Amino acid sequence: MATTPTVALLGTGIMGSGMARSMLRAGLPLRVWNRTTAKARPLADEGAVVAETPAEAARGADIVVTMLQDTVAVEAAMAADDGAGHAARDGTIWIQSSTVGVDGAARLAALAVRCALVYVDAPVLGTREPAEKGALTVLASGPAEAREPCTPVFDAIGNRTLWLGPAGNGSRLKMVVNSWVLALAEATAEAIALAEGLRLDPRLFLDTIAGTGTDSPYAHTKGEAILARRFDPSFPLRGAEKDARLILEAAADAGVDMGLTAAAQRHLARALELGHGDDDMAAVYLVHRRE
Ligand SMILES: NC(=O)c1ccc[n+]([C@@H]2O[C@H](COP(=O)([O-])OP(=O)(O)OC[C@H]3O[C@@H](n4cnc5c(N)ncnc54)[C@H](OP(=O)(O)O)[C@@H]3O)[C@@H](O)[C@H]2O)c1
Repeated sequence: MATTPTVALLGTGIMGSGMARSMLRAGLPLRVWNRTTAKARPLADEGAVVAETPAEAARGADIVVTMLQDTVAVEAAMAADDGAGHAARDGTIWIQSSTVGVDGAARLAALAVRCALVYVDAPVLGTREPAEKGALTVLASGPAEAREPCTPVFDAIGNRTLWLGPAGNGSRLKMVVNSWVLALAEATAEAIALAEGLRLDPRLFLDTIAGTGTDSPYAHTKGEAILARRFDPSFPLRGAEKDARLILEAAADAGVDMGLTAAAQRHLARALELGHGDDDMAAVYLVHRRE
């Protein structure tokens, strides 16, 4: 493979478009595809080639990257008649970065075998801003021989790559870390709602934990959004609810009781019903306040 690989990126949502810009800044030749083409078009001005189908994006690429909503979306983009799986050369590396859970990662690994692709399971930590800045953490897992060819992509999108062994371990660790993230967001929403319910200024909560051993930058990020009732999406609530379900599935298979994640999933599902799927996950607060 050329030292500067040509990359096909499927999915230019919040995360995918940020990753695309980071790859373009790093000088990687990039083709992008998105189901809703209009969302990919702005990337053409920044040097990407916008493809009409996943197959068109993948044809001749050295590396295919998927950053789509879920397993079903990834399967559609890879395995459909105009999918990337048929169009990519045998032995092409497939970096799968969508959050698909433990079972999803295994299903996609099997799909990679059927398409003769080299599967690298590489979900990411970080949200809109780190994606835009090339400051994600990449949880990479897959065959050792894929490490070197993946490096230009991982260096472009992230500032830290953890190689975690056989494919699937990246998605396992992603479930672990996201259980923590969901618990933090949920706890922040709940504490602010409780402060308000007890007729306190909710800012007192954030000010009181600031700089103490119980502080967390995430509490302030999500807490400020809640106080301002500003829910423009960084981590869309729809995705957070999906992740909570994936964590519960993985935990059930592993015989682990996840009461916190179960509560978060119920609240996120209620917020989805109320129409907040496209808002940031911090909008889960609205369920606590029954606004
Ligand atoms: N946002 C975060 O903080 C964050 C952080 C780490 C990981 N992730 C994960 O990254 C992935 C993308 O998340 P995001 O935040 O970028 O979400 P997003 O902005 O909602 O983008 C979702 C992407 O998936 C596509 N899509 C959805 N359903 C599809 C289908 N059935 N067929 C084809 N394409 C489909 C969308 O296409 P359209 O534009 O046509 O709808 C869009 O490209 C998810 O797995 C998410 O869990 C997100």
